Amino acid sequence: MRRPRILIQLDCDPQTSVFDSVVAADSGVEHLFRHRDVTPDQVERLVHGAMFTRGPQDLHSTAIFVGGSKVAVAEQLLDAVMKTFFGPLRVSVMLDPNGANTTAAAAVIAAGRHADLRAAEALVLGATGPVGQRAARLLAGEGAHVRLASRSKERAAQACGRIRERHPKARLTPVDLEEAVASLPTCGVLISAGAAGVEMLHEDSMERSSLQVAIDLNALPPVGLASVDVMDRGTERHSGIHCYGAIGVGGDKMKIHKAAIASLFESNSLVLDAEEIYEFGKKLLH
Ligand SMILES: NC(=O)c1ccc[n+]([C@@H]2O[C@H](COP(=O)([O-])OP(=O)(O)OC[C@H]3O[C@@H](n4cnc5c(N)ncnc54)[C@H](OP(=O)(O)O)[C@@H]3O)[C@@H](O)[C@H]2O)c1
Repeated sequence: MRRPRILIQLDCDPQTSVFDSVVAADSGVEHLFRHRDVTPDQVERLVHGAMFTRGPQDLHSTAIFVGGSKVAVAEQLLDAVMKTFFGPLRVSVMLDPNGANTTAAAAVIAAGRHADLRAAEALVLGATGPVGQRAARLLAGEGAHVRLASRSKERAAQACGRIRERHPKARLTPVDLEEAVASLPTCGVLISAGAAGVEMLHEDSMERSSLQVAIDLNALPPVGLASVDVMDRGTERHSGIHCYGAIGVGGDKMKIHKAAIASLFESNSLVLDAEEIYEFGKKLLH
């Protein structure tokens, strides 16, 4: 007998994300168990409920989604989930706090359509936020030299340190916003992941750049890159810069998010963090 597909949502926020629940429903999940305010010490008990209820042959029909707006806490939840599994008693898990992994994956895939990321000089604005950090991590994983920009160079340096924990050989440079603008004439890839409703670059800054691709993830006016329209999807501006706006990237983000959730039910051993979601998205969208 086929078991119904159950997704257990572990959310670190006081309210479980409605966005993530709707995407789960649209991805073929039949039963959604929504847990909110989850802390790492509560995870073992919750995960035991997933591991010990169905036989090993049916565990692929149960999966876990870890989300919420606090990325560092969500990462601790994932660690606690992984520590609870043993032997074949495990279920597939996806980590996507604040949509950071799926959004960053969609942005870097868009960048890779127009630039050779292995040799790219890249700049990430808002690189200390959940989405910016993941985008910088994925670019660095491809071999790009990535400048991580923040209003505080110290925070940018801390973000570089976190990425180096995963990619020790990553080529990363922390920059402040002035240095970020000054680097534009030598950058080929720009991802703007600043906070919603904050303009990160004026129109004339991009005119003086050597960019091949510019991606803005902020949909709320004013947008992050003044030259880019939210609907842009590879639109050429400023004599040859391929531009993507937040809605242009958002369509791919949604495709990746839904397909990744559906894939959790194909086996009981998937662990989808930024890199796995990025690789998954590349296969899906190319
Ligand atoms: N298109 C999509 O599908 C999608 C999905 C999810 C998110 N998003 C968007 O992606 C963007 C990034 O998301 P997030 O959650 O990572 O953002 P966030 O944490 O709210 O902000 C990212 C960074 O922006 C910088 N920042 C904040 N206020 C600023 C200001 N007034 N001036 C300059 N910099 C400022 C901060 O860095 P410092 O303090 O270090 O300077 C912060 O770490 C947002 O615009 C969000 O709406 C899009």
